Amino acid sequence: ANPSILILAGDGIGPEVMGEVKKIIAWYGDKRGLAFDVSEDLVGGCAYDAHGTPLTDATMEKAQEVDAVLLGAVGGPQYDSLPFAVKPERGLLRLRKEMDLYANLRPAQCFDALADFSSLKKDVVAGLDIMIVRELTSGVYFGEPRGVFTEGNERVGINTQRYTESEIARVARSAFELARKRGNKVCSMEKANVMESGVLWREVVQEIHDKEYPDVALSHMYADAGAMQLTRWPKQFDVIVTDNLFGDLLSDLAAMLTGSLGMLPSASLGAPMANGRPKALYEPVHGSAPDIAGQGKANPIACILSFAMALRYSFNELTEADRLEKAVEKVLADGLRTGDLMGPEGGTPVSTAAMGDAIIAALDAS
Ligand code: NAI
Ligand code: MG
Repeated sequence: ANPSILILAGDGIGPEVMGEVKKIIAWYGDKRGLAFDVSEDLVGGCAYDAHGTPLTDATMEKAQEVDAVLLGAVGGPQYDSLPFAVKPERGLLRLRKEMDLYANLRPAQCFDALADFSSLKKDVVAGLDIMIVRELTSGVYFGEPRGVFTEGNERVGINTQRYTESEIARVARSAFELARKRGNKVCSMEKANVMESGVLWREVVQEIHDKEYPDVALSHMYADAGAMQLTRWPKQFDVIVTDNLFGDLLSDLAAMLTGSLGMLPSASLGAPMANGRPKALYEPVHGSAPDIAGQGKANPIACILSFAMALRYSFNELTEADRLEKAVEKVLADGLRTGDLMGPEGGTPVSTAAMGDAIIAALDAS
């Protein structure tokens, strides 16, 4: 059977950028004999409009069964006043939680043609290609006890940083597996100097490495020093693995090394399924961009690069993932820009569809 994909395009620019991904999926079937069984469903505000819930049980079930879920974006001002339980982002949170997607992958990749866009010097970012793996389902955002309590005559706000050995081990394995498909190098970041959870984190990552991945180069760094190194010379890294809190900060920092929100893909991976593929959801980092929705202005590259990640990490099509990334690189080098990639000097932006078509033309030429 062909590998299966569930497309949840969502709201706002979600369906616009996903439209270009659908063209690319069709291209792979026609031109590379790489066919996928694609189904589509609703998530977010559009699912609420149709069914009164941002994610139906039936859609949830489908998401659990497919090899990969591709998501566009959810939300929009017309849904802002909905009750918490049916807000569009609850649909996305339910997917992440029920699929138990504990490893969040955020690449920071700099295409040479966009190196001027970075806030850093061009030679620091040109050719950059690193991956931050953030633990997504545990740590200080979830640990108990938590809450605002009264102690004596004042209030105290409490969160608990808590990691079990198995929670650390599974995200470490995700990072080592990724490293083997990339530069074979992992840097683990924590604060073992001041945090007990950091002490355990460092120990467990080292143990998993020594027992299961001795071929991968492993180093450890305190997360604050890591933040400095990420801005000083980011090309020293390949894969960085870190906890939920530090990963939240470090992945946002790394993202901005390379420029526009319209360029940033992501993946969230869980445990391997019976066929060996990890549970997986791929999505651009950006939201539904209501300010430009429906105008054909959105940059589809973040969503297209998310599909390239699916080719690499769900379907093990490393050559085809490279081919797609090279096609993106080519159109950027040719000077094609959506509005979000234009500097103050301006120019004529291309439409969402024109960008997608140019990438397909570059695939044809590859
Ligand atoms: P946003 O990411 O939607 O937009 C921020 C800015 O970046 C806007 O000016 C937008 O036009 C621009 N932008 C974003 N993606 C772009 C693209 N592909 N091409 C060109 N320009 C792009 O974040 P914002 O405005 O904070 O949130 C808008 C809505 O999206 C809200 O309802 C929010 O809840 C939702 N959201 C959803 C997310 C998701 O589905 N994972 C993530 C973040 C926000
Ligand atoms: Mg964040």
